[in-house]
Amino acid sequence: MTRPASHTPTVQIVVNGIPRQVPAGTSVAAALAQQPPGTTRTSVTGEARAPLCGMGVCHECRVRIQGRIRLACQTVCAEGMAIDTDAGTAPGSATPCP
Ligand code: FES
Repeated sequence: MTRPASHTPTVQIVVNGIPRQVPAGTSVAAALAQQPPGTTRTSVTGEARAPLCGMGVCHECRVRIQGRIRLACQTVCAEGMAIDTDAGTAPGSATPCP
């Protein structure tokens, strides 16, 4: 059973300084995909990157969340969460999610 959209609980996140409302339980990767350009970072050769595997393996979804590098696909949006894309992160530097 689905609820009408007006009754779906939401949380407010801040993406690159812009406040956004997303349904509660949304992953950061899904929230970013809904907002153009839908990318998470820029590669060392300057290419825009976006989530690929969705299961914590590829690390293409690295973003800075509350000042720490995280995997967007493994992180659920929380009220007031500050998310910054294009963090210039190095492969393998993401912090495992609690
Ligand atoms: S999309 Fe591959 S690790 Fe997040």
